[in-house]
Amino acid sequence: MSEFLSDDAFEKFRDLIYNESGIHFSSSNRTILESRLKERLRSSGLPDALTYYSTISADSDELKILLDSVTTNLTRFFRNTAHFETFEYFVIPHLIKAKRNRGENKLRIWSAGCSTGEEPYTIAMVANELLPAGMQLEVIASDISLKSLMVGKQGFYGENRIGGVPEHYLKRYFSRTGNGYRINDDIKSLVRFDYHNFKHDSGLRGMDVVFCRNVLIYFDEAAQKAAIGRFWDAMAPQAFLFIGHSESLFGMQTRFEFLKTDWACIYQKNTAGSSA
Ligand SMILES: C[S@@+](CC[C@H](N)C(=O)[O-])C[C@H]1O[C@@H](n2cnc3c(N)ncnc32)[C@H](O)[C@@H]1O
Repeated sequence: MSEFLSDDAFEKFRDLIYNESGIHFSSSNRTILESRLKERLRSSGLPDALTYYSTISADSDELKILLDSVTTNLTRFFRNTAHFETFEYFVIPHLIKAKRNRGENKLRIWSAGCSTGEEPYTIAMVANELLPAGMQLEVIASDISLKSLMVGKQGFYGENRIGGVPEHYLKRYFSRTGNGYRINDDIKSLVRFDYHNFKHDSGLRGMDVVFCRNVLIYFDEAAQKAAIGRFWDAMAPQAFLFIGHSESLFGMQTRFEFLKTDWACIYQKNTAGSSA
């Protein structure tokens, strides 16, 4: 037990954060939670953890700030090359063909847990390269971290964050500004950033692709299962799901079909079933 946070207080915060976001703190990462709480106490000028607990129980804005502060927002452009190869060589061509056959002209992709925007902008750039005339693209980028969403909306990235962007994309979709790069408006206008917490239904429907990568690792199995069920609801029949390469639906008894492509393994919504 630490002086700052009793075992009882740790459990209260742990349960609240879990119930509100699905993010699970085990006793082995308790020190991370303690350090984030100390930061919040310093900023809010409150005397101790239990007073802070009463505050967040009554103040939903401060609760959002706490949830933001316990998220891990690590990301980068073109993260996991094999995923973007699968997207470029398999998913997008497949969807374009299927849309054409059905006389549809819009592709809708959800970057769920988009952090600071590198993932949805990568999706938009790669898809934009392949879109035939007349086919529209909308990328919905959502996260629980308001700070990260603001960075994404600005679309400005320092030089040290641009490393994974292939030269061709850098030239075509970014403008050099000061000590970094700005995403050009043609790509920016394809991406819509929105606050959304996986604990709730997104209200999205008919998504052709969902990317939810490197998010589920912070959840326990029950929260993972609930989030996966919500993705199922948001997806169109036969839509594709990308999860992080260290994440798996194995043993979760979902109706998603495991798809092994030449580049990476992804999942597809198998509409033979009616729920995830
Ligand atoms: C490690 S980042 C992954 C970013 C990106 N998907 C990637 O793979 O590079 C995880 C993101 O998930 C978000 N997140 C965590 N819990 C969430 C929840 N309950 N609802 C929505 N987003 C959540 C975090 O705020 C964080 O930005």
